[in-house]
Amino acid sequence: MARLKTAIVGSGFMGRVHLEGVRRLGTVDVAAVCARRREAAEALASAFGVPRAETDLAAVLADPSLDAVHICTPNARHAPMAQAAIGAGKHVLCEKPLAVSAAEAAALVRAAEERGLRNCTCHNLRYYPMVQQMRAMREAGELGEILVAQGAYSQDWLLYDTDWNWRIDPEENGPSRALADIGSHWCDMAEHVTGLRITELAADLQTFHRKRKRPKGSIETFAGKTLAPGDYTEVEIGTEDFGAVMFRMGSDARGSFTVSQVSAGCKNRLSIEIYGTRGSVAWNQERPDQLWIGRRDANNEVLVKDPSLMNANARPWAELPGGHVEGYNDTFKQVFRRFYRSIADPDAEPEYPRFADGLRQMDLIEAALESHRTRAWVSTAGR
Ligand SMILES: NC(=O)c1ccc[n+]([C@@H]2O[C@H](COP(=O)([O-])OP(=O)(O)OC[C@H]3O[C@@H](n4cnc5c(N)ncnc54)[C@H](O)[C@@H]3O)[C@@H](O)[C@H]2O)c1
Repeated sequence: MARLKTAIVGSGFMGRVHLEGVRRLGTVDVAAVCARRREAAEALASAFGVPRAETDLAAVLADPSLDAVHICTPNARHAPMAQAAIGAGKHVLCEKPLAVSAAEAAALVRAAEERGLRNCTCHNLRYYPMVQQMRAMREAGELGEILVAQGAYSQDWLLYDTDWNWRIDPEENGPSRALADIGSHWCDMAEHVTGLRITELAADLQTFHRKRKRPKGSIETFAGKTLAPGDYTEVEIGTEDFGAVMFRMGSDARGSFTVSQVSAGCKNRLSIEIYGTRGSVAWNQERPDQLWIGRRDANNEVLVKDPSLMNANARPWAELPGGHVEGYNDTFKQVFRRFYRSIADPDAEPEYPRFADGLRQMDLIEAALESHRTRAWVSTAGR
């Protein structure tokens, strides 16, 4: 495969994860790191031997030899940065949520299509081997007709009123917090695994901390946990710490999920349970190599990830032998590999979530915000 050149925009949690993920491919060179603060861009670039550190995205995009960019910045920066990259003719891999509104996301879908550029929304969690196993089992008919999808995405890192991050500031984050940040991953996974679309939903959101204490200095994701109590400003909070969503799916299926950033002890607990007429599956991101399989008339099983025991269609996502855990970082590698393969081969099918999938999540988030506001069920059809 021809060598490709890319740039990483954002030097925080995701910037580093993306940089490492790209490096694992072996066919893509990271030409530049771009961040808001020069020291941050330089620190990440020098830690990984990246030749260029920038604070100006336009200067990065002006490099004609650059094929693609990864956008790993706060949500409100996604659309303007992705539009700039598309305008410069670069393929774009953007973190989720794709934008802060469905209108922004729809404009990105159109812009990438018009320019014929590859585009990806980083719903990487689909690519845990056991999530692909659930999907392959459903496709093979092992679950029968889907009746119910349920689950939760719970974290604890915003439990205290002294916990702060740009996600709490709607200017940087957009109008939805927990739903946009983690609910978008849950819904993407539920629709991917079941092959069904959420058609209607009813949401109830809660902001437990109506006021939070904002540290006077800037901090990056999860770093707030280690701050000593000190210099804070009190800020009114309008975005949700928690949400409960009931939904209808496909023609007859039903489901529900909760999202929470205030659940003590839950570090990154995405759980999903799918119940069908022939069997069930349940998976929890905190134990990613285990899949519970439930049966009515036979013993239940726990399938421990082992490519030789997996459905053939799920096997390409499991690259290590049984007993060797494949986790969060590996899901990025899987997305990136397929993204760059599709750039190298213009005829390749894009086997990854695209901007259209990011738009889908923005539609669901806006439907949930509307439902909460109006205290009514909201149709997601035609959005
Ligand atoms: N796919 C996943 O599993 C996953 C996980 C975490 C975060 N995310 C997404 O990744 C994005 C980044 O989140 P994070 O947790 O890495 O945040 P972070 O706070 O750790 O990092 C954000 C980075 O953006 C940079 N930045 C901010 N404004 C900028 C600007 N104008 N120009 C250039 N750089 C700028 C900051 O310097 C910082 O390095 C978010 O959209 C988030 O939703 C995705």
